[in-house]
Amino acid sequence: MRRKILAGNWKMNKTYSEGLQLVDEIVELFNAQPVDGVEKILAPSFIHLSAVIEKVKLIKNFSVASQNCHHQKNGAYTGEVSAEMVKSTGATYVIIGHSERRSFFSENSVVLSQKVNIALLNNLNPIFCIGESLEERNANTHLEAVRKQLKETVFNLSESDFSKLIIAYEPIWAIGTGVTATSHQAQGMHNFIRSEINKKYGKVISENIPIIYGGSCNAKNAKELFACLDVDGGLIGGASLIAEELFSIANSFPI
Ligand code: 13P
Repeated sequence: MRRKILAGNWKMNKTYSEGLQLVDEIVELFNAQPVDGVEKILAPSFIHLSAVIEKVKLIKNFSVASQNCHHQKNGAYTGEVSAEMVKSTGATYVIIGHSERRSFFSENSVVLSQKVNIALLNNLNPIFCIGESLEERNANTHLEAVRKQLKETVFNLSESDFSKLIIAYEPIWAIGTGVTATSHQAQGMHNFIRSEINKKYGKVISENIPIIYGGSCNAKNAKELFACLDVDGGLIGGASLIAEELFSIANSFPI
């Protein structure tokens, strides 16, 4: 059976103390009623990483991701954080390829491939995001767009490196808009991604790799999305900033 994964991406939210308060609330809820069989990942800002790691290490099945890392090893890159630095906090995942990084910070396939490589070199598992724009969806070129994103980046990895990834399908038009992909749209794309992985890496890898959905996923719609055969969980933005909401989403997986 594939892993079930719930990841919360805090994005650029929460001051230091607000972040600690949120993680305390999350820990309290999950301690009181553990949600077994679901891997929980929190992706706070860099400033929160080590403190959040300290707090979640007391509960089973929680790990921590950074939202980014630089593509170079180290050096004169003022304001940047390397994969090695992220790893040294105790984080085990890093989000790479988020559409907000692609569009606001011009991260292209070349840079994203470098980020994936340096993350893997430092034993950080990438949560690699892909997804089409509204224009591509409307023009019916969404499958081609996502295939291209895979081909230009993570499809250059070896089998063993590729197996370390979590793929996150995040249609850009669904991120932060309140418009969620329907379960039909999500299942269609997740199944397409899995079939592309099957063609490239074969049945065992494609059947085992987690593909999670992101884009206005919340406690109301998670159940229907997570019930889809090829949807292995969620990458949650806004709703992950409310402990009760995150807890409720964690309880939305099919039993
Ligand atoms: P929202 O859940 O706020 O739409 O954000 C999704 C996302 O981008 C997670 O990485």
